Formats: sequence, C-alpha cells, structure tokens
Amino acid sequence: MGGGTDTTANLFCFVAYYLGRYPEVKQRLRQELDDVIGNDSTKQITYKHIDELRYCDAVIKEVYRLFPVAFSLGRVSTEKDEVGGYVWPEETSYSILYCAIMKSKDYWTDPEKFDPDRFYKIDEDDKYLLERQYVKTAFSIFGGGIRACPGRKLAMIELKCLLASIYRKYDIEMCYKKFWRLLIVFDTVNAWMSRYTDYIYGSLSKLIYSEHNTLLY
Ligand code: HEM
Repeated sequence: MGGGTDTTANLFCFVAYYLGRYPEVKQRLRQELDDVIGNDSTKQITYKHIDELRYCDAVIKEVYRLFPVAFSLGRVSTEKDEVGGYVWPEETSYSILYCAIMKSKDYWTDPEKFDPDRFYKIDEDDKYLLERQYVKTAFSIFGGGIRACPGRKLAMIELKCLLASIYRKYDIEMCYKKFWRLLIVFDTVNAWMSRYTDYIYGSLSKLIYSEHNTLLY
C-alpha cells in the first residue's frame, strides 16, 4: 500500500516544491500543458496528451534525480562476481545507492543544478553529453529487471494527470512573502541534510560492511 501511494504522493510534493522554487520551469510546464491539452480547463486529459507531455516527464525525472523517493535498490547475487575491485561470493546482498549515483559528477553535468533539460530532447543538446552516455545506467526511478516496479506506468500517469489538472487551473507559489525566514531555514537544513546524506552514503559505500553485505556506490 505504502509503496504504491506514498511514493507517488511524496514525489508530487517534491515536484510542486521545485516548481515553486523555479518559476521559469513552472512557466514552461504550463506552456506545454496549454500547447498539448489546450487552455479549456474543462477539457478531459487523454492518454495521448499524457504521452505528449515530454517536458512534464523531464521535470518529474529531474526532481527525482535530486530528491529520490526510493534512494537505494537491493539485490542478492546468485553467483560469485567481481564488483568494485573485489570478488564477492554468491548470495552477497548489495545496496545500490542511486541517490549518490544520480548526483555523481562522473555521470552528470553540473549534478547539483536543477535543470529538466537534461532529460528533455537530450539527443539534441551537446551541453549534456555525460547524460547522453550514462542516463540509461546512472538513472533509475522504478528499478529494473524482473523486479522493476509494476506500478511504473500508473505512477507516471497519476503524476502527469495531477500536475496537469492542478497547474492548468491554478498557479501555486511558494509562500516566501509571509514565511520566507522559516522556509529559508528549512531550505538550508534540507540542502545540508541532502549533502551530508550523499556524503555519508558516498563514504560508506566505499566501506565493506561484512563479507555478505556490501554497499555500492
Ligand atoms: C513515483 C512512484 C513510484 C516509485 C518511485 C516506485 C519505485 C519503486 C522501486 C524503486 C521499486 C523496486 C524495483 C526494483 O527493485 O528494481 C518498486 C517496487 C514495487 N512497486 Fe513501485 N514505485 C512507485 C509507484 C508504484 C505504484 C503506483 C505501485 C502500485 C500500484 C507500485 C507497486 C510496486 C510493487 C508491488 C513493487 C514490488 C515489485 C517486486 O518486488 O517484484 N509502485 N517501486
């Protein structure tokens, strides 16, 4: 239950937060909603519209890259393997820390920067050569292989429908005017926590916990 609801609900909140912080991104998103669905806010959103909302898709992915709901994926190996310069026996549990991988400068151009363009028309943009090369392996929302999230299509439909339904009719702004001091404190703590978490995960991931439990960067 939590997996199918909290994930989508939290990701939606993070998207709303980033749209509030980056009004130019929100503007582009609203423009896309107008272009694809039209400005009659009573018009029903169809599956074709959802498919065509490519900037919206890029915004969701970029928010996820910086604020992943599922920050790590677990796997147990079925055979002996060499990983990170060490040989690991079969049945080793691995924790793949996507939260660190998705912010590593080895795979992302300006990883700290929020820019949905890195997922939008990526083939046409030379600025994001690293992304072009690594996006398939260094980015994950829904995991992969036979245990990949079975709700992935539904989740993207829910997110896009919700974003379209709200941002076509309403303009959500951050309440800086009244609570800006409080928000700046939250924002700063949040940014630091996220940095420390990445740092800690990054360092821990280089340690070997035990023969059978490994954290991978
Ligand atoms: C933004 C929303 C969501 C995110 C970020 C998300 C993410 C994930 C991730 C990372 C996994 C593990 C995949 C792996 O190990 O390779 C997973 C598994 C799973 N998800 Fe989601 N999910 C989301 C929404 C949903 C929804 C809407 C449903 C159901 C309606 C759902 C049902 C499941 C189930 C049942 C599994 C376990 C699959 C298995 O172990 O075989 N998820 N999800």
